[in-house]
Amino acid sequence: MSVHKEVKKVTTHVLQEMKRAGEKISMLTAYDYTMATIVDAAGIDVILVGDSASNVMAGHETTLPITLDQMIYHASSVVRAVDRALIVVDLPFGTYQGNSKEALNSAIKIMKESGAHAVKLEGGQEVTESIQRILTAGIPVMGHLGLTPQSIYKFGTYNVRAKEEEEAKKLIEDAHALEKAGCFAIVLEKIPAKLATKVANEIDIPVIGIGAGGGVDGQVLVFHDMVGLTKEFSPRFLRRYLNLYEEINTAVGKYIQDVKSKDFPNKDEQY
Ligand code: KIV
Repeated sequence: MSVHKEVKKVTTHVLQEMKRAGEKISMLTAYDYTMATIVDAAGIDVILVGDSASNVMAGHETTLPITLDQMIYHASSVVRAVDRALIVVDLPFGTYQGNSKEALNSAIKIMKESGAHAVKLEGGQEVTESIQRILTAGIPVMGHLGLTPQSIYKFGTYNVRAKEEEEAKKLIEDAHALEKAGCFAIVLEKIPAKLATKVANEIDIPVIGIGAGGGVDGQVLVFHDMVGLTKEFSPRFLRRYLNLYEEINTAVGKYIQDVKSKDFPNKDEQY
């Protein structure tokens, strides 16, 4: 029987068991109560309150502007909706890079004010001291390597990372460093599938991929992309399960028509 089916509440321990059992982990982002209710009821294992909220909820070009309080607002809405999934919240840009004390304070604020279960942060060896400090407070930490959107101005593009040998070697070292520091899982974003598979085989903690191929322990997508609410964003790794942009556009157009033509409301739709 699958680990997934038996579990009433997903914990970091359950994710480790899934990896051991060879059962893939499903993860999606959510940022609000209503969508999180649906995603959780469908049986997702992990909900990420991603700093991609900066893009898809607030319309910023990058993830950099979103604040700690805004992340807490999104995370607490999600927490109120969820019964089963593990809820992980991104530490936003500028709230953990300064030093490990700042990282700990930011992580504590998120956990205390949102009620989420874990935090995620971007980076390799340069953030291991912060990870260890956050763990001293009993807060589980998820790592994030490869394309790390908070460093977009260093990279300059959203292209595939670690294609060259030197960067691939550094990524493998970073993955080991994150495992050693105590991360319960790692996200690998937009790197060659072969490299991601190698990392997943070399480390014991779950590796969740986005644009990292099928050889890892689980997959994550941004909810708005996966249901086709976003229109312009079409990377190769994205599978769209719905075309909600078109469906909502059509529904709104029909509503406008019905209001203008006085078809809505009809006799049965009034008091
Ligand atoms: O913020 C986010 O949505 C993420 C995922 C892309 C992994 O970090």
